[in-house]
Amino acid sequence: MIVKQADVSDRSQLATVLSEIKFLRGVIHAAGVLDDGLLMQLDGNRFNRVLAPKVQGAWNLHELTQDRSLDFFVLFSSAASLLGSPGQANHVAANAFLDALAHHRQAIGLPALSINWGVWSEIGSATGQQNRLRSRGVRAIAPATGLQIFGQLLRQNRAQVGVIPIDWSKFIDRVDAPFFADFRSIAQPLVQRRPASMLTYLQTEVAKVIGLPSAQLPSPQQGFFDLGMDSLMTVELKNRLETNLGVSLTATAIFEHPTIRDLAQHLTTLIDAPPDNPPNAPTQPPDPPAQPPETAILAELEELETLLRQR
Ligand SMILES: NC(=O)c1ccc[n+]([C@@H]2O[C@H](COP(=O)([O-])OP(=O)(O)OC[C@H]3O[C@@H](n4cnc5c(N)ncnc54)[C@H](OP(=O)(O)O)[C@@H]3O)[C@@H](O)[C@H]2O)c1
Repeated sequence: MIVKQADVSDRSQLATVLSEIKFLRGVIHAAGVLDDGLLMQLDGNRFNRVLAPKVQGAWNLHELTQDRSLDFFVLFSSAASLLGSPGQANHVAANAFLDALAHHRQAIGLPALSINWGVWSEIGSATGQQNRLRSRGVRAIAPATGLQIFGQLLRQNRAQVGVIPIDWSKFIDRVDAPFFADFRSIAQPLVQRRPASMLTYLQTEVAKVIGLPSAQLPSPQQGFFDLGMDSLMTVELKNRLETNLGVSLTATAIFEHPTIRDLAQHLTTLIDAPPDNPPNAPTQPPDPPAQPPETAILAELEELETLLRQR
């Protein structure tokens, strides 16, 4: 491994470094500087300071590597350019440029990926921001998880991907930007449901999953598996409840609460729990390990099949 140092926004310094690298397989641009402040306090100098490593730096890398055959060209952008970030207008603008550059490169047939990272825990420039962001529903990415996701992203070909663990119902509560209006209508109304409607809601969802006509709601006392539910239907019901109610359920929740009445009670308890303190949850939930969605679904199905066989 060879380590070279250069100011990425200085074209001639960068050209010298690149000329010394004979076999260049790819580029990962992760240079950045923060200089946060209210918009009225951000003068040209403070904008330029933050824009230089990202805008000038990424453009220099783009131009100076165009005659090289690269496997990848990755730009470390930020969630800030997707979601906005108070006090970071310069940072938002700098990262929006990276996002646009990735799309431009792909449009002209060059490899490119801009990753809108959420905050990382333990390392890097955002370590002090985690508590503030957690209160807005944004969780941090553990370094090991981030690296695993990074490896997966290198194997796909989208120009821009956001990696941001978000509790949407909490996040939506705290932003009022019009951009999120559609998310709000999905995330909010059901979060406010209470037991009486929860029972009817659950009867209707179960009827849909097992294919009963809408006029024929299943009895709240009857067991899910006596109603003919199998493991696939169980996963489908769990996914519908998680999406519609904004709750997180274990794969075995439907076994542990085996009737509509039991599950309605469980869901009500989950929804009524303070957001930072769901029942039985550890005080600091660890970041979930990144695994492809299909692997997680298969693992859930396998667990459910085993439980079904044991009945
Ligand atoms: N950490 C996060 O949670 C997070 C979240 C979203 C996005 N990102 C993005 O990911 C990237 C890395 O973040 P980080 O937290 O690791 O940042 P960091 O700890 O502040 O490191 C940034 C690095 O960029 C280098 N740099 C700054 N200006 C440069 C220039 N003109 N030429 C060459 N190198 C330059 C700095 O070198 P010196 O130390 O020598 O100045 C430093 O090593 C940044 O682009 C950041 O915006 C990070």
